Amino acid sequence: MDVRECIYTRRSVRKFLDQHVEWDKVGEILEAGRVAPSAGNLQNWKFIVVLEKDTRKKIADVCLQQYWMTDAPVHIIICSEPIKGKRFYGVRGERLYSVQNCAAAAENMLLMAHSLGLGGCWIGAFDEDGLSSTLGIIEEVRPQIVLTIGYTNVKPLMPTRYKLENVVFLEKYGNRMKDAAATMGLHYAKIQRGIGKTKDILDKVNKKVFRRE
Ligand SMILES: Cc1cc2nc3c(=O)[nH]c(=O)nc-3n(C[C@H](O)[C@H](O)[C@H](O)COP(=O)(O)O)c2cc1C
Repeated sequence: MDVRECIYTRRSVRKFLDQHVEWDKVGEILEAGRVAPSAGNLQNWKFIVVLEKDTRKKIADVCLQQYWMTDAPVHIIICSEPIKGKRFYGVRGERLYSVQNCAAAAENMLLMAHSLGLGGCWIGAFDEDGLSSTLGIIEEVRPQIVLTIGYTNVKPLMPTRYKLENVVFLEKYGNRMKDAAATMGLHYAKIQRGIGKTKDILDKVNKKVFRRE
């Protein structure tokens, strides 16, 4: 799966199969978080992996009773270390970069999970103190995101998204484009990608023919 397909087909999944997730896949997901971008490469995050069902139940409970979460065999809790952010970048590092770094790690992990054939969901609604005490998270560290990961047999449709022209301005705030896709040549880009794919296939066929000779 290429990056484009992965980005477009990833969905928040809230229904999981009772199926073990291979440890090496969990590892790959964590690695994807580890290599995410962070301000000044601070990497001021910690990832807690939870497999125990009882703990997952407790997590679901402190996540405002989102009990469906319990069925996800793997929970990953992404925590920030705001003190480290403050030491290097002051209030901005403490309050903003610490959160943004965790968000970057979370999205990397969700995309990796999806590319490995797993479903996942980003959970932001939780009682922070409840989650911290459930997992023994020390006071200086803040849980930012819970990810639920597991195999699934559902394929949710993409919830509606705003059109590009509703979210993009050109040069100045408020300066809308009438038809962003046309303005930015997106239709043209799609055709180019189609041509590229055809060319790849032809190259592969040619290579095979060449090898036979
Ligand atoms: C910051 C943040 C917090 C979220 N919190 C929750 C949550 O607590 N529970 C939940 O079911 N989904 C949660 N989601 C998932 C969103 O509902 C979901 O991403 C959105 O509806 C778009 O759907 P998609 O991910 O399938 O594109 C959260 C997503 C983000 C980015």
